[in-house]
Amino acid sequence: MAEKKTILTGDRPTGALHTGHYTGSLKRRKEMFDSGQYNMYLLVADLQALTDNAEDPEKIRENILEVTLDNIGIGIDPTDCNFVVQSQIPALYELPMYYSNLVTMARLERNPTVKTEIAIRNFARDLPVGFMTYPISQAADITAFGAHYVPVGSDQLPMLEQTREIVHSFNRIYRTDVLVLPEAIVPEDERMARLVGTDGDAKMSKSMGNCIYLKDKPDVIRQKVMNMFTDPDHLRISDPGKTEGNPVFIYLNVFGTDELFRAHCSDYGSLGELEEHYRRGGLGDVYVKKLLNEIMQDVLRPIRERREEYEKDKAGVLDILRAGTDAALGVTNKVLGDVREAIGINYFSSKGFEKYL
Ligand code: TRP
Repeated sequence: MAEKKTILTGDRPTGALHTGHYTGSLKRRKEMFDSGQYNMYLLVADLQALTDNAEDPEKIRENILEVTLDNIGIGIDPTDCNFVVQSQIPALYELPMYYSNLVTMARLERNPTVKTEIAIRNFARDLPVGFMTYPISQAADITAFGAHYVPVGSDQLPMLEQTREIVHSFNRIYRTDVLVLPEAIVPEDERMARLVGTDGDAKMSKSMGNCIYLKDKPDVIRQKVMNMFTDPDHLRISDPGKTEGNPVFIYLNVFGTDELFRAHCSDYGSLGELEEHYRRGGLGDVYVKKLLNEIMQDVLRPIRERREEYEKDKAGVLDILRAGTDAALGVTNKVLGDVREAIGINYFSSKGFEKYL
């Protein structure tokens, strides 16, 4: 049998994960994980989270368990997937030392994701060096596991591009093939890739306060859905309404599978028919929001319940992290050893100064 390919992905433990993370990356990750075709690693990227939270390590500590629970909640089986804590894997901070010599400042400054993040955080000269260079650290995350595929949200494409450049440079300069060239796997559907916030803002994000979290309780979900923005010109029920760009309809399309639609809506044959009526006029926002609420409840209930089950045993979650991290040490130290050998800084190993021995 051919050797299994490796998948690695990661989350920053800066807060609980929301439905935007779910459609943008977790859903796809779960499908790939479920296929049983791959070796799977899920990195809880606490070092990356610290790059702009150095003063608040307590927040990172708490959220290590939160993001692990969110991933288990969506159905990732901890017996099939290694949950790895980044800070406990030495290769992940040694490799960036070597890679950073292969990357120019100009190249880092061009990274569009980092640029956006710098703007959001209002960083100027106070920008932490660690934050500026985290794409290099992420290249270490990916290559240390020899990952072939990296399922991520589309905002992470620049990180994968940067990683691929580092792999090419490293393998060329040191005349080796120790580093595996990874491939990003992103959602094809743009609405899923960047799920709008409940306020219709371009992106769901914690800082905007427009999120529905995977762990939200039923009444919270309901309240958030009933307060969602719709078409601002749809004032009276009789007014024609826009479905395009309307957050409620975007969510209905993203989350409302045919099956869920049929289970909760008997007045219309399909979502298309419902949309048609809304556009014509005569269909109120409350009707569609109630429908969306029922669908969201069905999507999130199993995730929340599974999450709550595991949450009762925090020590057990810690065991999951410990076991995954232990398993990761072997693979990553192997790659690290190969990297040192490729560079020729393995002085004290048996191959180091062979000719003098
Ligand atoms: N940068 C990713 C994010 O913000 C998290 C991450 C860290 C990651 N290391 C990774 C993702 C390695 C994929 C592979 O979501």
